Amino acid sequence: MKLGFRAIIIAVIGIGLVSVITVRGCRTPKDKGKILYELHCQTCHGEKGEGFYSYPPIAGVDYVEDHKDEIACIIYYGMEGPIEVDGVEYDGRMLGNPQLTETQIANLANYIYGLPGNSGASFNKTDIQNQLENCNYKPIK
Ligand code: HEC
Repeated sequence: MKLGFRAIIIAVIGIGLVSVITVRGCRTPKDKGKILYELHCQTCHGEKGEGFYSYPPIAGVDYVEDHKDEIACIIYYGMEGPIEVDGVEYDGRMLGNPQLTETQIANLANYIYGLPGNSGASFNKTDIQNQLENCNYKPIK
């Protein structure tokens, strides 16, 4: 009996571990982008990128489409000062995210360009590296 009980416990732990590993392994880059977005961006830019009060929208707007070559810089360094997004003026401050890896920034960028109204551009790690090498942004801390 004693051995049987132990076997059950070990089996339960084993199944638990295997499912955790499987679930984590099955996350697509898009899921990862969504999770990163929820964690680092959503409070200001809204669940669907619709923006919020003095925080500009990032879904279906000209600014995002016009800054495809700098999206990594915006995420990594942050930005401040007056900008115009779809004809509306904003003058805010967004902190940089230097803690994110290039792969995470790629996942985020892919997620953002897949938001409703955006063009679905896609970025890999090399694209992000190239962008970051050519940024003309001041780090916002
Ligand atoms: C604390 C609030 C806040 C958070 C969190 C935040 N932003 Fe921003 N974001 C802003 C503000 C404010 C601006 C406008 C800055 C300015 O006026 O120069 C902005 C501007 C932008 C812009 C360019 C303007 C536009 O609307 O197209 C993009 C793209 C953007 N943010 C993406 C992101 C992404 C991606 C994340 C997550 C990694 C993020 N932001 C996190 C506040 C935030």
